[in-house]
Amino acid sequence: MIHPRHSFEEAGQGHVFRFFDTLPSDQQDSLTRQAAGIDLAELSRLIETEIQGSEHQAEDFSDLEPASYRPVPEHGGDKAAWIQAEEAGEAALRAGRVAAFTVAGGQGTRLGFDGPKGAYPTTPVRNAPLFQVFAEKIRAASERYGKAIPWYIMTSDINHAATTAFFEENGFFGLAPERVRFFSQGLMPAVDFDGKILMASPSQIALSPDGHGGSLRALVRSGAIAEMETQGIDVISYFQVDNPLVACIDPAFIGFHLLDESELSSKTVPKTSAGEKVGVFCVRGGKTQVVEYSDLPADLAEETDENGELRFRAGSIAIHLFDRDFVARVGGGKDEAFRLPFHLARKKVPTIDEAGNPVEPTEPNGIKFEMFVFDALPFAQNPLVIETKRADEFSPVKNAEGADSLATSQAGQRRQWARWCKAAEIPLETDDTGLPEVIFEVSPLFADTEERFIEAWKALEPKPEVEDGLVLGEARRAG
Ligand code: UTP
Repeated sequence: MIHPRHSFEEAGQGHVFRFFDTLPSDQQDSLTRQAAGIDLAELSRLIETEIQGSEHQAEDFSDLEPASYRPVPEHGGDKAAWIQAEEAGEAALRAGRVAAFTVAGGQGTRLGFDGPKGAYPTTPVRNAPLFQVFAEKIRAASERYGKAIPWYIMTSDINHAATTAFFEENGFFGLAPERVRFFSQGLMPAVDFDGKILMASPSQIALSPDGHGGSLRALVRSGAIAEMETQGIDVISYFQVDNPLVACIDPAFIGFHLLDESELSSKTVPKTSAGEKVGVFCVRGGKTQVVEYSDLPADLAEETDENGELRFRAGSIAIHLFDRDFVARVGGGKDEAFRLPFHLARKKVPTIDEAGNPVEPTEPNGIKFEMFVFDALPFAQNPLVIETKRADEFSPVKNAEGADSLATSQAGQRRQWARWCKAAEIPLETDDTGLPEVIFEVSPLFADTEERFIEAWKALEPKPEVEDGLVLGEARRAG
């Protein structure tokens, strides 16, 4: 086998091996492995087109239209259609056609938690980590539909071992271990502004995960797609690791996706303001796409319709359903027409100088490449966007403080449970934002929707006092 050193030299990246001969053999081996994992042809193409290519033309948004979406019944959606979709989704779940899929390979720099983000304690009473919340939702749905729903979790090199160890230490949160599959996503090297690969140390390339869009090729490369095919799974329920409110398994969403023969379905919530930092579902040239908040021109972002609502209001909250064969096509990489683009980000990348000494940059010194999962939308047949209620389904933990932090997410969880209590006619004091005075918690094993909460509460005897520290569903968690 030819040592990757030669191809790196040919590609003008020979400096990666500058210190190779001075390294101990285990470090030589690991550098060789890292180098062998890099797709040099892909990288050279990116450097040529994205870095050395002629300046990029400003994007033309003149033909951009808002994507239409299916509203929830409360906003005028057809109630009968939602019931029909729910039935279709339930049938698919009973037939074992659905897998859950969490992307958890990110670096979580904004949160700054020392460990995989999914291990972050997030619920207000039990301090249950995000992974436990999802596990309980998946377990509840598996029991309800009489089919164990497999759960695929994408990690990355930075957190793979810690993630699998966390599940093992916690008994897989009551799930059958063989139903939980972990695989690592791909890595991309960071390059300097001349396109030269940056080294993190004399023996390490500065590598980082290839973005959540890398999940599509990782699903293929890991064998997950092939495994799903043998198991008759054709619907992949995609969600991020940071949103404890997500309905990991949503029968109505699944039903609409199947009835519309959609290859990629997405949930939306109306933006709260023109400046809210979420991507927006749009249509251009007949293709649905997400335009990032940073790209959407301010005049379009602020435009209102005849009802005074934002015209471009369909915010993307990173909840999708993928058709398995669609993932095979886009993630398989055989057909260039279905290649996800890379986005470039200028970042401070710790590196080394000519002598191999560490350099901690104070200004951006490098470029990282990432793919975004929603860039698959224009390739999908019959893409579908449906509305969900923000308060019910979106309160992510992104930051250590302020917006989208643990505090806002816990408040979001507590307001949801308070609404359920109110619907079940349980007396409860709340402030005028709906936040209850007492701090209690509802495990997804007790109920994961308002309807099921009302039923479960009715059946519960004796009924406990809803007070500080109450956890509904605690007993079942132990069993
Ligand atoms: P974010 O864009 O919030 O990034 O990821 P992040 O890495 O979690 O956090 P910051 O930006 O460093 O603070 C959204 C979702 O996509 C996953 C994350 O794990 C999260 O669930 N993701 C992101 C990946 O799985 N891989 C990636 O390469 C990037």
